[in-house]
Amino acid sequence: MAPHAMVPPNYFDVVRHIDDGKSSSVYHCRDVRESDPSAADVAIKFIPRGPETIDERVLREVLIVRKLQHKHIVRFREAHLNSRHLCLVFDYVPGGNLEQFVDSRGGTLPEHLARYFFQQLVLGMDFLHRVPPYGIMNRDLKLRNILVDDPTSEFPILSICDFGFGKERDPCVPTVSAVGTPFYFAPEILYRSSWEMRYDGKMTDIHGMGVILYKMLYGEFPEFNETGGETLEEKLLQLKVNTTKLDKSPPSLRALMLGLLEPVPSQRWSVDKVFKNEWFCLDLEEGSAALRQYNDAMLAQYNQWEDSRREVQSVERLKMMVNNARAEAL
Ligand SMILES: Nc1ncnc2c1ncn2[C@@H]1O[C@H](COP(=O)(O)OP(=O)(O)O)[C@@H](O)[C@H]1O
Ligand SMILES: [Mg+2]
Repeated sequence: MAPHAMVPPNYFDVVRHIDDGKSSSVYHCRDVRESDPSAADVAIKFIPRGPETIDERVLREVLIVRKLQHKHIVRFREAHLNSRHLCLVFDYVPGGNLEQFVDSRGGTLPEHLARYFFQQLVLGMDFLHRVPPYGIMNRDLKLRNILVDDPTSEFPILSICDFGFGKERDPCVPTVSAVGTPFYFAPEILYRSSWEMRYDGKMTDIHGMGVILYKMLYGEFPEFNETGGETLEEKLLQLKVNTTKLDKSPPSLRALMLGLLEPVPSQRWSVDKVFKNEWFCLDLEEGSAALRQYNDAMLAQYNQWEDSRREVQSVERLKMMVNNARAEAL
């Protein structure tokens, strides 16, 4: 979409087009109301109005991003509705996404950098999975949905973006729809015999984290053997990840990769287990306990933070805006 086709909401100037996603276009814009120039940069996700593009997932995305506050999750500021688009305004992250970063480094990252990124991803995901009341699953973890602040830095900071397939883990509402990106699909989704079979999105997120780590280290997606078996359980039990690359890696990294990519969801590693893994903890001066404590503190303050945000757009206001956006462009 050409930049001139994009009418930013009032108070915003378009700087440049950043990227197109599944169903949106993202632009770097500036908030002209900001007196602090360093806070004026935003990324606006323009989602075309209309019943086809504005579905229940968009509503979920908006309500989820409103709930999140974490150093490794992109910060949502506000939403606007104009004549053609629902506009979601986020903090601008200038360094591109992690797919572009890995490509610019020749397709793989050195072990210490992959670990440093993976630690940040795990921290953000641990928080997401524990957000009150039920935790949130991402269901579309991939390199393109992770942003890099400064690619020239020795230690870039990552933030997870795109909660377009996100969902609260409400135990009363089973999760059945297969969403995400095929290379990142967990085996229990890939080999389901029926579209109605439930799965645990937290466990599919863990698989996604494994795929991301594998891709950063080895430049490829993990491969699984062909599987026989009749039922999903039999198929998953027979499934094995190809270990050719892993066999050349340190044993604790090999164990971590196999734990994350474990085909049987109930045997897949939990985040707790990842935090205890030797390879994961390398370079962490205070060990992973400090990471855990950071998230515990963020979650302990969570309810207070929610209360202090009464002045930001309310859930009711956002719901109404998304509902109005279902009407075709004016
Ligand atoms: N806050 C942001 N700052 C900078 N770039 C962003 C930001 N949010 C998204 N992007 C870029 O736009 C792309 C699409 O955004 P995303 O939220 O993933 O949309 P979609 O749901 O359409 O995939 C991302 O892959 C990333 O490259
Ligand atoms: Mg995306």
